[in-house]
Amino acid sequence: MARFPEGFLWGGATAANQCEGGWQADGKGDSTSDHLTGGTVDTPRRYTHDIEEGTYYPSHEAIDMYGHYLEDIDLFAEMGFKTYRLSINWTRIFPHGDETEPNQAGLAYYKRLFEHMKEKGIEPLVTISHYEMPFYLCDNYGGWTDRRVIDFYVRYATTLFTEYKGLVKYWLTFNEINCGMMAFGDYMSLGILPKQDGPTMFHNPNETAEDRTKRFCALHHQFLASAKAVKIAHEIDPENKVGCMIAGNLAYGYTCNPDDQIAAQQVMQQGNYYCGDVQVRGEYAPFAKRMWKEAGVELDWGPGDAETLKEGTVDFYSFSYYMSSCVSTDPEATKTAGNVFSGVKNPYLEASDWGWQIDPKGLRWYLNDVYNRYRVPLMIVENGLGAVDERAEDGKFHDTYRIDYLRKHIEQMALAIEDGVDLMGYTPWGCIDLVSASTGEMKKRYGFIYVDKDNDGNGDLHREKKDSFDWYKKVIATNGEDLA
Ligand code: BG6
Repeated sequence: MARFPEGFLWGGATAANQCEGGWQADGKGDSTSDHLTGGTVDTPRRYTHDIEEGTYYPSHEAIDMYGHYLEDIDLFAEMGFKTYRLSINWTRIFPHGDETEPNQAGLAYYKRLFEHMKEKGIEPLVTISHYEMPFYLCDNYGGWTDRRVIDFYVRYATTLFTEYKGLVKYWLTFNEINCGMMAFGDYMSLGILPKQDGPTMFHNPNETAEDRTKRFCALHHQFLASAKAVKIAHEIDPENKVGCMIAGNLAYGYTCNPDDQIAAQQVMQQGNYYCGDVQVRGEYAPFAKRMWKEAGVELDWGPGDAETLKEGTVDFYSFSYYMSSCVSTDPEATKTAGNVFSGVKNPYLEASDWGWQIDPKGLRWYLNDVYNRYRVPLMIVENGLGAVDERAEDGKFHDTYRIDYLRKHIEQMALAIEDGVDLMGYTPWGCIDLVSASTGEMKKRYGFIYVDKDNDGNGDLHREKKDSFDWYKKVIATNGEDLA
């Protein structure tokens, strides 16, 4: 019997700010991502309020997908992609964010892109906001802390649903919305500007209850915006399917000490279910009150908010999954790295060059856990291995380590389906090499397709297939049966 259902959505995923470039092309405005410099695993990216002359900002050119989209889509089609997850750059459509009329050139660009995908038989899966928003809204409104931003987002989303009706039916409202639970998300996700220029945008060492209140309120506004968008998407086209997108945060208790297990449960609540419950069930989980109390947070409930959340629940739950972590109450336990989550090192797991712990079986665990909690279809919209790819003597990229990582995860997906999980699709991250979100570098590559560009911006941007390209093509052609 086939392990993956017919029509399973195999594909790949990217985000506009990490691949498009063309940061000022055709009337585009400044995005939050355009104010982040390059970095490396040892040198953090910097936020600068003003664009500095002579400083390298990776999003400005990225891999210039803006100029290469036809070629890139053709390569995805050659691999047999059934779907391609991409995001729309909000500032191409509303350069400042608070305009009443959209930028026609921006709309036309994505229309050409979607039409080309349609010709090639690839179903778009569109993230409406992926770690970028109009910088103007941050500077003049305080980002998502201001309720007016809900209406700007709703106008933007409505424009997309109307304009691309018949071309796009799968939508995600916000990328990794649960990042707004952490200081990491303040700038990346919620558009709260750091108080000063510098490398501290991923953490706030002197955080106060007021900072946390701002963050939780901003996230509440995103929930409301998402719920309103879901409702409108269904009204505009009943064919539309809208999902949430959560950064999958699998936390194991480090030992069988009940303290560790309770601590891990709380990480699961905070890291996954806080947002999942609001977006899938339309209400805050019972533990939310305890969390607000502990964090000293006062949520700004408005009249009608509860109804809005209830009326805009999502059709499916999508998530990213790269790694797992352990939670320990022992202050001496060794820490490990991660994209947005860190934790205690797991002695049973290996880690990537960037310290992310590789845990394919954890994916089966997570799929079961979330499916049993929500009973809506699931989609894995990011997964993959960020690695340094070296050209071999024969001039090619033999990325066997990447194939190995993906194979093991796909095997666990098949087992989860056997467990009864309703899994709709799989779009590995960075199907074409792109700029890393956390470190801003090119050296950390995820792609089946190599792009000639380095951390300093050198390279002619040509595309090349890696060994994983043909491997993934075979996986898709056999609907996941042949993973050899
Ligand atoms: C996810 C983000 O957290 O992880 C992506 O949605 C990001 O935008 C991906 O690129 C991988 O992280 P990184 O830091 O390796 O690019």
